[in-house]
Amino acid sequence: MPRTLFFLAALASLAVSGAVSAQTASLREAYQPYFLIGAAVNTGNYADENSEDARLIKTHFKVLTPENILKWEALQPHPGQFEFRAADRLVAFAGQNQSHVVGHTLVWHGQTPPWVFAGENGEPPDRDLLLARMRDHINTVLGRYQGRVLGWDVVNEALNEDGTLRDTPWRRAIGDDYIEKAFEYARAADPAAELYYNDYRLEAPAKRAGAVSLVKRLQAAGLRIDAVGIQGHVGLTQPSIAEQEDAIRDFHRLGVRVMITEMDVDVLPGTKGWGDADIRRREAADPAFNPYAQGLPAPMQDALAARYADFFRMYLRNHDKITRVTFWGLNDGDSWLNGFPIPGRTNHPLLFDRQNRAKPAFQAVLDAAQTRDRSDP
Ligand code: G3I
Repeated sequence: MPRTLFFLAALASLAVSGAVSAQTASLREAYQPYFLIGAAVNTGNYADENSEDARLIKTHFKVLTPENILKWEALQPHPGQFEFRAADRLVAFAGQNQSHVVGHTLVWHGQTPPWVFAGENGEPPDRDLLLARMRDHINTVLGRYQGRVLGWDVVNEALNEDGTLRDTPWRRAIGDDYIEKAFEYARAADPAAELYYNDYRLEAPAKRAGAVSLVKRLQAAGLRIDAVGIQGHVGLTQPSIAEQEDAIRDFHRLGVRVMITEMDVDVLPGTKGWGDADIRRREAADPAFNPYAQGLPAPMQDALAARYADFFRMYLRNHDKITRVTFWGLNDGDSWLNGFPIPGRTNHPLLFDRQNRAKPAFQAVLDAAQTRDRSDP
């Protein structure tokens, strides 16, 4: 076939087949002009570098957030005894694959061992003791991974739903400025690392206003915060795209970047509210609330795909404000939403199913980038 004809035939076949298929496409490459695409991973995903999970990670995700192994209970389970083996392994795996690692998380009330919040004689610790523990942990951890971790969730989930500061052992012992102190110590420990505040339901107006004040407080204290992480645990209908877009714009107006840090779409009925990731929340089981134990029916797959497409089109419109979108888990079988807030359910919130097959939602996210008009701002 003459060269021109061959070229035309190739073009025509591309038009018929539509976008690049899930087998050959790469999310991280498709989104490379816009923002980083990431996934939360657990150690089982990459224990075998040749596993299907590892292959999927390498193909699609440019930035990895460990789901648990950079939390305090994993890194310093006992005073002064640091356990770096698992974290070292992740950092090495990411490095081999030219991927980044996000440090999740330094100062949080969750997954922090009880000793951290214990003072002398069973009393709570005083301000100086807890500040010393915070500084030591941050120095040791950031010191070890200097230059190898892109950025840290310095403080996680410090706000109540009404936007006030949550009552945590950190705040009780240190005072409201425990947040400033955490950012101050982290900046000193690794001046080049990006530093983030991360929380859920930041789309809701009152909580968003609380986060805006928090960022302003840090800035007024002369501390640099690089980005706010909107976790993005969403449902099929709530929050609205506009609510999340407003939140992105509000944070960006403060001079910080925005990241979607823990995205998933809960497809199951029966749970109260959306986006509330408070791990202590438990709701009663009922078979009616677990309707897709045998698989997600096609109309629901389509609804999930449409929801993801709506979010990603909005992210692309705002790509000048967004640095990263991370999915909270690699595939549906890994998702925390199978156990929360009702244990033992079968959820389908991600782009890959339990056999790591790409779902229609995957294609929708890919298409959003590939069909975007590059002449748009
Ligand atoms: O470490 C123990 C292990 O010793 C024990 O054998 C095992 C048996 O269940 O449990 C292990 O602890 C589990 C831990 O993950 C580490 O694997 C906990 O039961 C389990 O509840 C815990 O869940 C994590 C959750 O945070 C706890 O806060 C999820 O995997 C993780 O996805 C989730 O992530 C949070 C983010 O950090 C912050 N934002 C909300 C998000 C979802 O809750």
